[in-house]
Amino acid sequence: MRDIDEITITIEVLRRLSDTPDPRLREILQALVRHLHQFARDTGITEEEWLQGIRYLTETGQTCDGVRQEFVLLSDTLGLSQLVVSQNHRRREQVTEQTILGPFFIQGLPVTTGQGMDISGGTHGEPLFITARVMASDGPVAAATVDVWQADADGLYDVQRSGWSIDRSQLRATLITDVDGRFSCRSILPKSYPIPMDGPVGKMMRATRRSPMRPAHIHFAIQKAGFDPLVTHVFVEGDEFLESDAVFGVRGSCIGSYERHAPGVAPDGTTVGVPFFVLDHVFRLEPAEEARQCTS
Ligand SMILES: [Fe+2]
Repeated sequence: MRDIDEITITIEVLRRLSDTPDPRLREILQALVRHLHQFARDTGITEEEWLQGIRYLTETGQTCDGVRQEFVLLSDTLGLSQLVVSQNHRRREQVTEQTILGPFFIQGLPVTTGQGMDISGGTHGEPLFITARVMASDGPVAAATVDVWQADADGLYDVQRSGWSIDRSQLRATLITDVDGRFSCRSILPKSYPIPMDGPVGKMMRATRRSPMRPAHIHFAIQKAGFDPLVTHVFVEGDEFLESDAVFGVRGSCIGSYERHAPGVAPDGTTVGVPFFVLDHVFRLEPAEEARQCTS
């Protein structure tokens, strides 16, 4: 095809993609081209603006490394991550809601089978005792794998600090539920924090006058064969940023009660000389088969 113009170019690109053997890949690529071309026509984008966009995406890629996921953060802050999560996990009311994974999850931590582990790694903060239970509709879920990770009292994840390595992890752990579906650990009370603002996403947030703040939360990812894997947060009730989360992750059912206690005996039997907090929370899993029916 010759003399392609700004309209017929879409038809021609779609035609050249039409022999893609994988039907799902063909569907996605053709839809992407249709939307991208229409976006360019709708906005009347200029060559300089197009080049600026290319530079921005290049910089976003160059900001990524083994532990920094700027593209995930870009997707999160544009609402795409939560959109994808929501349309793939339409949940029944009694099941814990799914939220975004976020850019700070680390795979491959050593698994801890015991209860009550101190995951703070000595970092300062107000003591927090997590006593949680993983349940299905017919009872507790034993031997589930629970990943827990959170920011420190300064709002930073361990991977954001220089010199991080997996064997020097702080405020994250991989735990296993006991026969009653319970898991517990000691940590610190999470604080609200700004998303990383020193990269391309920060430029976008400043240019659009958006708040970078996330309400205080702890991340949990729970897996057990036969159940839809659960990725969720437990936000701190009363946080001032619950209505304006920079990555759109807050669900009403994901707000937890972090109860403040006077100095005294903690849930793990130790005596704590300062006020401490207890998060007693129940996570409810959905059988994998029901999750498929709910989404389709
Ligand atoms: Fe987080």
